[in-house]
Parts: sequence; structure tokens; C-alpha cells
Amino acid sequence: MDTKLFQMKETIDESELKAVAKILQEGETVAFPTETVYGLGANATDEAAVQKIFQAKGRPSDNPLIVHVATKEDLYELTKDLPAYVDALIDHFSPGPITYVLADAGKVAPTVTAGLSTVGVRIPSHPVALAILQATKLPLAAPSANRSGRPSPTEAAHVATDLMGKIGALVDGGSTDVGIESTVLDCTGDFPLILRPGAITADDIARIAGACHTYEVEGEADKPKSPGMKYVHYAPEVPLILVDRERLSERIAHYQEKAQRIGLLYESEAFAAFEVAQKRHMGQDDREIAQELYRHLRAFSKADVDVLICEYPSLAKGHAILDRLERAATEII
Ligand code: TXA
Ligand code: MG
Repeated sequence: MDTKLFQMKETIDESELKAVAKILQEGETVAFPTETVYGLGANATDEAAVQKIFQAKGRPSDNPLIVHVATKEDLYELTKDLPAYVDALIDHFSPGPITYVLADAGKVAPTVTAGLSTVGVRIPSHPVALAILQATKLPLAAPSANRSGRPSPTEAAHVATDLMGKIGALVDGGSTDVGIESTVLDCTGDFPLILRPGAITADDIARIAGACHTYEVEGEADKPKSPGMKYVHYAPEVPLILVDRERLSERIAHYQEKAQRIGLLYESEAFAAFEVAQKRHMGQDDREIAQELYRHLRAFSKADVDVLICEYPSLAKGHAILDRLERAATEII
């Protein structure tokens, strides 16, 4: 397939926007930027179009997709039986990096929800994403635009590496701002429950909804509440070893003895002096670490390193960045 490229980094050209909308209306897939990561979108009400997302990504079909809409009214169209606190959450956090899991009104194609009675919906804040949603007048199902299992794309080049030739179009909107995926919030109970942590935290949500809990998978449960949580995620090309600061030098020595080419992703400046094949600094603060995380993970390739040693960053338990690193890790030491 010939993947058409569109440039919307600085300005959004009306005729190009129409062309992108047409591709989506005709049932093709289009990758576009959101404020979190790039998404691979298709008409959420068209089963055949949605199937193309799963094919392009190599995604297991029991993993439901997030539906993107432009307004609160559009979100209400797709859902039903909303608890009272949802309205306040939407007014406060949307458009923005949060997905609401709500009772499904039956408007989207069956594969979008993977047979669940709920649907995940979010209103993205990225101007390009909003412009595309407004131009198509369609709800767009859009998972992250990476091959299944790989780190999510935070720039158009990442999407091109994973999906070029497999999708209808790619819209370049520059680097994404947040860098990690939206907070996924189950809003079917008396209080909201975080299924996937993101930039909007349990404390932020509790301030608006009165309370907020975080779902934790116990043991090797084969039916987690958010189906996506059971799969390999965010994996770089080489094994990622997540290591406590105190044991980092020892681990580096261990792999050096085995003549392995070491990649190092570090937080503490103390490790900047280590002599390894390739090293990258995580970032100055939480915001920058999130923004750069997937770019870092994608930068360590098999051609250059055999193993990636990553310093366990000093963040509170349950932080979204730790969640992603722990899922990406082959080993945690
Ligand atoms: O920031 C984001 O959320 C990005 C951008 C593109 O919007 N999208 C994204 O989609 O991360 P994806 O498909 O990579 O992750 C969606 C997550 C999966 O873990 C999935 O299992 C969960 O949301 N999910 C979707 N619908 C759900 C539902 N009805 N119930 C429970 N979990 C759901
Ligand atoms: Mg994903």
C-alpha cells in the first residue's frame, strides 16, 4: 500500500485536511498526532476499517481500542448510564490525556470494544487531532500507531519505521507533548478506577471525583480489567534490565565481563562518566522523562548494543513512567 504523507507541523492546510478526512471516511487508516503519542485512526463505526488497524499493528483482537471524539456531546452519543462524577471530570480534564471507560451505547463496531460491554472514549487536545475529528465528523478508533509490542511513537518518523506501506496515510504534527499514553479511567463504578496510569494522576482525579483508586493485577490473572495490560509492551530491540541505583555499577561490570555492548539509560548525573557503547540521560524532570521515554527506548538498536541497562528512576510507586518501564523490562533488579 502507498502511504500518503501530510505535513501539519506548523499550519493545517484546509485542502490537505479535507484529503485526510476523505481517506478516513472511505474506510482507510490514518496515523495522526495526539498530545500523548501518535494514534492510528479509523472510522470507529466501520467494522472493516477497524479491522485494518488490527492488521497493520499486528494487534491481538481481544485488546479493545480507544475511541477519539471532538466534543463532550459526541462522547455522550457513544456511551450510556454515566455516573454523576463523569461530567465534572470531563469539564476539568478534557480535552486532554485521559480516557473514560463507560457503558457502551452500541454505536461503535464490535471489534472496537473487543466484545466488552464498555467503551473507552477520549477527547484529545492536540490541534491536529481535533481538526481531523471535526473534519471527518466521525468517532475515530485509534490505538498508539506502533507495531504491537513496540514503544509508542512520539514523532512521525517512529510511525514510519513501524507502519510505512501498511497504512493509508501519515500526518506529521511534530513531536508529541506528553510522550506517554493517556490515563485510562474506569468510570462504571461508584468511584473512578485507574486502569492505566498516565500524566493525570489518581490525586488529580480524586480532587474532582471525591476519590480514585488504582487497579492492580493480582498474580498472573489471565483476565485483567484492561485487556491490554497482559501483553508485552513498549519493548526496545534489545533486552531491557531495570536496575536499582545502588546495583547499577555492579550490573555494568557484570555485562562488561561477558563482553556485551552496553546501552545505558540513566537518571543520576553520577553515571554520565561510565564508559559504555551508548548512553542517554533520561531527562531533567518527570515531564521531560515522559516526553523523551519512548524516543530513548527506540534509540538503542541491536546494531549498536546487546543489552540496555536502565536506572530505576526516583519516582513515587505507581508513577506512569515506572509503569511503562516495568512493562518494557525483561528483568527488574
Ligand atoms: O494516549 C492514548 O491513549 C493513545 C492515543 C493514541 O490516544 N492511545 C492508546 O491506545 O494508548 P492503545 O490502544 O495503545 O491503548 C489502549 C488501552 C489498552 O490497554 C486497552 O486495553 C485499554 O486502553 N482499553 C480500551 N478500551 C477499554 C475498555 N473498554 N475497557 C478497559 N480497557 C480498555
Ligand atoms: Mg499501545
